[in-house]
Amino acid sequence: MIMASLTLSPAAPSQLCSSKSGVFRPSQRLLVKPTGKSVMKKEKGMRITCQATTSISPDRVPDMGKRQLMNLLLLGAISLPTGFMLVPYGAFFVPPGGGGAGGGTIAKDAIGNDIIGAEWLETHGPGDRTLAQGLKGDPTYLVVDKDGSLANYGINAVCTHLGCVVPWNQAENKFICPCHGSRYDDQGRVVRGPAPLSLALAHVEVEDTDGKVVLVPWVETDFRTGEAPWWA
Ligand code: FES
Repeated sequence: MIMASLTLSPAAPSQLCSSKSGVFRPSQRLLVKPTGKSVMKKEKGMRITCQATTSISPDRVPDMGKRQLMNLLLLGAISLPTGFMLVPYGAFFVPPGGGGAGGGTIAKDAIGNDIIGAEWLETHGPGDRTLAQGLKGDPTYLVVDKDGSLANYGINAVCTHLGCVVPWNQAENKFICPCHGSRYDDQGRVVRGPAPLSLALAHVEVEDTDGKVVLVPWVETDFRTGEAPWWA
């Protein structure tokens, strides 16, 4: 390892090095001559230790205006791509709107197409209960009344016991859960447990403009029980 002794310029030692911390001032000149000795020097009983640092000319330091401009440019360069990344990230947490009136969701059929009320009734006769994709993607029965019109309510098919999807049993005229045998009448009111509650409801509306079927959250009294909706 090469050691070097330092020979200082004529400036006073107190200008070059501190007597304790030994910080070398960058503005001072320094002559280096390798001799294989330590960089510590004793002078008049005082121990002086020098440490070389990089010398930077004052005229190479950018003034405050330039530094602020560089900071702004750096901030802009970081903010733009970060903003573009955050927009889709934030949109992920926003529930998708269905585009229906009053904050409702357009009902979709088994293959994901929007359901048109008139077309639906051409293929679904009186008493029919067929699943559609409803609010929050929940399977929801669209009900065709005995007179052949679309009922103004839909029945959420998620069992209130442990969440199985409850199929419609035409022969029994009931919804019968295959998991633990709960039964619901043709309007979704629970008639046998272990399910503790009736199936949830949603409003069914047909848009005037394009005839699409829209499901809207049901927050009013449950017409089957006369009680407040447990799902709202
Ligand atoms: S999940 Fe339907 S009865 Fe248990």
